[in-house]
Amino acid sequence: MATTLSKYSSLVEPVEILLNEQLSLEAHSSSLYVAMSIWCKAHGYEMTADFFSFQAEEERSQARKLLEYIRKRGGFPEIPELTEIHLSFNSLHRVFEQVIETEMHATFQLNSLATECIKVNDYVTFQFLQPLLYGQVDKEHVARRVLELIIKVGESGPGRMQIDSQVLEISWGLDLVKQGR
Ligand SMILES: [Fe+2]
Repeated sequence: MATTLSKYSSLVEPVEILLNEQLSLEAHSSSLYVAMSIWCKAHGYEMTADFFSFQAEEERSQARKLLEYIRKRGGFPEIPELTEIHLSFNSLHRVFEQVIETEMHATFQLNSLATECIKVNDYVTFQFLQPLLYGQVDKEHVARRVLELIIKVGESGPGRMQIDSQVLEISWGLDLVKQGR
């Protein structure tokens, strides 16, 4: 976004555009996870609903970090427009398929952003992206594990309760591993 202050920005335009796209993606993920939390609660998956509330908060905090970063480097953060948030899903299996698709797309976008940073020698932004990139490993891992569980146990009958309790265990397990690092 060219303005009279653009000449004082430390961000080159392609990196600023991609950072704003990432900001928009994180905000979108946050709203999607709120929608998933509401759906889970309405369908008896109480603990999975809590899991998505935490995830929504985490995505919102990442969006805020990106916004602050763009601003601190003299760039112009764009307030994302949120569209196409689906509120209804066919099954918990479909919910987690969408989670893994969303997170793999986020990883791809972050990698493209990191590639652009190297191309234009923006090592500060490259460094800023590292925790976000590492965070994707755990997010994809949790979604894959839960999908495996849903396929193995099945969503009908008593399996529902088992899935619901294990979703939090899988994500807490990762937190415990992180604390031990
Ligand atoms: Fe994210």
